[in-house]
Amino acid sequence: MPEDTTLRDAADAADFRLGAAVAADPLRTDAGYWTSLRRGFNTVTAENAMKMGPMRPEPGVYDFTDADAVANFAEAHDMALRGHTLVWHNQLPDWFQEWDYTDDQLAAFLRDHVHTVAGRYRGTVEAWDVVNEAVADDGTMRDSVWYDALGERYLDDAFRWANDVAPDADLFYNDYGADAVNEKSDAIYELLEGMLDRGVPVDGVGLQMHALDGVPDPESVAENVRRFSDLGLDVHVTEMDVAYPEADAPENHRERQAEDYRDVLDVCLAEGVDTLVVWGVRDSDSWIPEWFPHVTEDPLLFDASNDPKPAYHALKERLEDTD
Ligand code: G3I
Repeated sequence: MPEDTTLRDAADAADFRLGAAVAADPLRTDAGYWTSLRRGFNTVTAENAMKMGPMRPEPGVYDFTDADAVANFAEAHDMALRGHTLVWHNQLPDWFQEWDYTDDQLAAFLRDHVHTVAGRYRGTVEAWDVVNEAVADDGTMRDSVWYDALGERYLDDAFRWANDVAPDADLFYNDYGADAVNEKSDAIYELLEGMLDRGVPVDGVGLQMHALDGVPDPESVAENVRRFSDLGLDVHVTEMDVAYPEADAPENHRERQAEDYRDVLDVCLAEGVDTLVVWGVRDSDSWIPEWFPHVTEDPLLFDASNDPKPAYHALKERLEDTD
């Protein structure tokens, strides 16, 4: 029986941005996929299509086909678009070799990339993950081509370059494992505080929320959100999925998963976080089973048959319960 209202309707009514990471191919070919996407969400993030590697097949060539497909879908269905991601150590083009460039050339290369991509989607991308995962798990700066060549200033530069061409977009630093108060989120707090002190145009922090053993303590997530908000930053939950170690999963883990999603939404609503993005549409689209075969294989809101799961209903009920 068709629903009277969908999760997307509930998000719209609550003025909340509920998003999903999407891929271009199933948007083109799989009606079930985009029907679920429209049913659940009012915001999209390109899961891979706006990254440097997928976008730059050869030296000097940009291929915007898939990124445009995602952007066009968002526009056609009145969805907000989060851009992901301009600067990352991962998913670089296959042909790109650090040793082919001097440090100055690498800076020029990165500036050209940020200007080209953020400039193309000016006015279309509402929020950019400008720099992704610059901090290592122990809180030190992550070794990367950009850090090796340019030092910490690559973050300042990237945000300034993005701001040059997309002054109306909200510019985010995005990372994983920093959802609650911990060593890594402490380091990110200091990093962003320093950038703000230097006048760098950073607007927000993205907490990815890949939860592989249920979600972190909601109290600690709330405390973490508050401290970033107190710095004057917006906070988004940018890449949520919820799994449990297979060997030790709760008996009815889909019910527990629904509670976990709702707990994080509760924190968002209580702490002024207006965006929560789920990292995929259906369980069968998720990156988790390939990368983490030891955890439960159903981290998202829709099952492989496009049926909404308890987590879908829990989020919908909670959004319908906002004043
Ligand atoms: O590009 C090739 C394609 O040419 C080939 O046909 C296909 C077949 O295997 O593989 C394609 O590349 C894959 C790509 O996804 C696109 O599907 C890569 O092998 C695969 O490693 C890549 O994984 C992505 C991963 O980032 C890369 O690190 C995941 O889909 C994507 O969900 C994941 O997303 C990241 C966020 O960007 C940052 N935060 C963590 C998150 C999860 O790792």
